[in-house]
Amino acid sequence: MINILFVCLGNICRSPMAEFVMKDLLRQRGLEGRVQVASAATSTWEIGNPVHPGTRNKLAEHGISCKGKTARLLTKADYAAYDYLIGMDQSNRTEMLDILGGDPEGKLSLMLDWTGERRDVADPWYTHDFEATWQDVLRGCTALLDRLAGENGWTPQ
Ligand code: 4NP
Repeated sequence: MINILFVCLGNICRSPMAEFVMKDLLRQRGLEGRVQVASAATSTWEIGNPVHPGTRNKLAEHGISCKGKTARLLTKADYAAYDYLIGMDQSNRTEMLDILGGDPEGKLSLMLDWTGERRDVADPWYTHDFEATWQDVLRGCTALLDRLAGENGWTPQ
C-alpha cells in the first residue's frame, strides 16, 4: 500500500480537492486497494472545519463527494506514516519542513512538480477561482498516478 498525504495551509480548499480527486481517479482505474490518500493543514486556522463550499461544489460538479472530511493538522508523525507528502505551494513546503523536522527520505514534493511545471497550485482562497484550482489539481494528480502506475507495474483497468 502506498500512502499519500496532500497538504495546504488550511486543509479546506486545495488539499481536500486533491484528496478526493485522487480517490476518484483511483476508483476509475480500479486501484483503490493500492493507494491510501488523506490531506492535512500546516496551520491550525481551520482545524475541524468542513471542506470549503467552493471546493465542495467543484467536486460535486464532477460527481465527487467529500462528505465527512474535516480539516486536520499535519504532525511530525505523518512523516513516517506517509510515502509521499505533497504540498500545493512553496510556502506549504517551508511550513511542512518546519513541522516534519526536515525531509531526510526525500518524501516531500509540490503538486505541480509531478507535471514538470514547477509552479504553485492556484489558491482559490484568494482568487475565488475554484475551476483554475481544479485544473491544476487534476493535472497534478493524473501525472502522479501515471508515474506510480508505471513504477509499480499497475496496468490500466
Ligand atoms: P487552503 O486555503 O490552504 O487551500 O485550504 C486556505 C484556507 C484558509 C485560509 C487560507 C487559505 N485562511 O487564511 O484562513
